[in-house]
This record gives sequence, structure tokens and C-alpha cells, in this order.
Amino acid sequence: MTLPFAWGLVAGLVYLSVEPAAARDAADAVRVAEVTRPATDFSVPEAFERNAGGAATSLATPNANAFSHPSANLSFERQLDFHVGNGIFRKLWVSAPASTKSSDGLGPLHNARSCQSCHIKDGRGRPPREGERAVSMLLALSVPPRSDDEGQRLAEGRARVMAEPVYGAQLQNYSVQGVSAEGRIGIAHEERSVSLSGGATLQLLHPRYSVLDPGYGPLDPEVMLSPRVAPQMIGMGLIEAIPEADILALADPDDEDGDGISGRASRVWDAEEGRFALGRFGWKAGAATVAEQTARAFSGDIGLSSHRAPGLAPRSRSPGRAAGRRGTLRSISRRSRRCTWERTEGVSVRSSPPRRRTRRSIPSCARRSG
Ligand code: HEC
Repeated sequence: MTLPFAWGLVAGLVYLSVEPAAARDAADAVRVAEVTRPATDFSVPEAFERNAGGAATSLATPNANAFSHPSANLSFERQLDFHVGNGIFRKLWVSAPASTKSSDGLGPLHNARSCQSCHIKDGRGRPPREGERAVSMLLALSVPPRSDDEGQRLAEGRARVMAEPVYGAQLQNYSVQGVSAEGRIGIAHEERSVSLSGGATLQLLHPRYSVLDPGYGPLDPEVMLSPRVAPQMIGMGLIEAIPEADILALADPDDEDGDGISGRASRVWDAEEGRFALGRFGWKAGAATVAEQTARAFSGDIGLSSHRAPGLAPRSRSPGRAAGRRGTLRSISRRSRRCTWERTEGVSVRSSPPRRRTRRSIPSCARRSG
């Protein structure tokens, strides 16, 4: 293939919702290795540094909306898909029934009313400040496996985690009227002293998480809490377009190259396809595709079901909670199926903004570390 690097990525983007990115041919692999080779000279910007997303890099004014632009090289039709998806990303959902027929179905348990509430202006979220309720950070919940079968499902990657028996795999700290929320995220800070090699001592704040005011009885005594801040939304389609073989080639689970990093590829069970797939999205690469991550977000974060994520099975000891969930699923499932797909378009084709001030920032970092 003689197409320049950026076009390779874009070709991947165009096909990404139809088939997984194809493996590279030898010539393409050489070209990609050339473009992604680590820098050796920090006195000048790297050749491809300014446009981190290749031809997809947005050249719009780098202001507070820098993460919200579509890829620069989208066709007119694809731009339309992007804008429809973007509208759904920003939409504030309300509980059903409501007069706004196209925006109801929120909850009954949820973490936020819109995607945008967590991925603020498509950027990352943050832990709550003291006295604030968490919005753009959530707590994932799990318990250790309790039977050989559970242990085996985890080991084989057929289950991502063992969910807390009552509260599920995520604490939903908001709810619609008449339903109790699952609880609040508590954060207490413990001071820890760290001595630096120069003799100075630092006091660091080590956060400890807990669930306050649990709405459905005590949590499992062995529950494990995993705080997750919402990541930024740029370049998702580019990550999806990387051929699986390229990622697997970089895995080094036993740190055989001795660089202190033992990267593992995440294998996740793709229920829709009925096969294992490479995990790419989320802090622990727990979702194989943007569509999968989006369906989970609709279901787990906002309470909207789809054919990919039909919502959590009601496992509560509390009849109120179970009834609330079922009702919502029935009423919105057809509409949300459409939303998930439109939204996928919006997220996948979001561009990466160009890197700014390449010339000045790199030499100054190099000077500091040298
Ligand atoms: C309550 C906050 C919250 C809401 C609402 C939310 N997200 Fe997220 N999002 C997160 C968190 C936290 C993660 C990281 C998840 C993980 O590591 O398991 C994430 C991850 C993602 C990712 C993967 C990002 C990456 O770098 O791998 C995508 C894509 C995404 N969300 C899309 C959406 C969409 C689309 C919606 C609306 C349907 C949405 N999110 C709603 C908090 C949220």
C-alpha cells in the first residue's frame, strides 16, 4: 500500500462499524513503524507530532471546545451522523412518563442524566470536591468469586467481574423520584509521608473510598470498590482502527524485555458476536468496541437499555427497586436501540485536536529532566 499513514487510519475509520480493522501488509507495517518510532532528538518536534490523529486531526480553534469536533476528513454524510450522535451525547434524559417523548426513560437508578455530565465537553471528569456529590466519577463494585464455576468464568474471561449480589457492578448514586439511590460515594483522605532522595519529606493525601447511606441494606462484607473518573472522548475511532495484531505484538506480560512494564492484552467476551475480542476501551480495556462501551454507559450510567445491554437483571432484595428497573426497560427498549447506534457514530468519529506549542513545550521538558 502506498497511501500515507493518515489515510490508513481513515480507511480504518470508515469501515470500523462494519468489520474489525484488517491486519497490515508488510509495506504498511514498515511505514507505521517509521511514523511511530520513539523520538531521539528532543530539540525539535517530531515529524508527525502536530497532527496526532493524522488527517482526522481537527484544525478548529483550540478553545474550550477543542475535544468536541468531528474528525477533519469526514464526508458530509458522516458529519451528519456525528452531529446526530453528538446531540444524543448532550441530551439530558428525564424520567418516564414525560411530555418529551424522545428524551424520557432515565433511571430509575442512574449516575448522571447525560453522557456529557461525566465527559464534560468531551473531556475527562474529576473526583468530587469535599461536600460535593460525585458526578463525573463512579464506583465499580465487585466481590471475589465464590464457586469454582465463578472462578473459572473469571479466569477464562467470560465474566469481567463478579458483581456485588445486590448493588450490581456499579454504584448508582442517583435515582428518579420515589426510588432510593443506592448510596453516596464517601472519600476520606489519609496523610502519608514520603521521603525524597534529596532529604525533603512530602505529605501526600491517600484517598479511601466507601459507600455512605446504602439504600438497599449493607453491602457485601468482601465488596471491592474501584473508583473510575470519566476519560476524555477524543480519538476513539482511531483506537478502534488499530489492527489487533499490532496491539498483541506489544504485549509483554512477563516483562521479558526488562523495561519494568508488563503490558497484557485484555480479552473480553463479546456476547453479541459470541467470541472473545480484544478489549480496547475503559481504564482496564474492558470493552472491545465503542458500541459496546456506549451500550454499557446507556444502561449502567443513565438507565437506558438497548439490545446490546438490556439493563441489569433486578437482583435486589427490595421489591421497589426491582419493579422500578423492569418498568423502565420495557418502556424504552426500542427507542434506545436506535440511540446506541447513532451515538456510536458520534463518539467514533470524534477527532483528536492538534498538539499545541510543539516547538516550545518539548525542549523545556527535556531541559527540566536533563
Ligand atoms: C457517570 C459518569 C458517566 C456517564 C454518564 C457516561 N460515562 Fe462514559 N465513561 C465513564 C467512566 C468512569 C469511564 C471509564 C470506564 C471504565 O474504566 O470502566 C467511561 C468510559 C467511556 C468510554 C471509553 C473511553 C476510553 O478512553 O476508553 C466511552 C467511549 C464512553 N465512556 C462513552 C460514553 C457515552 C456514549 C455515554 C452516554 C451514553 C457515557 N459514556 C456516559 C463515565 C461516564
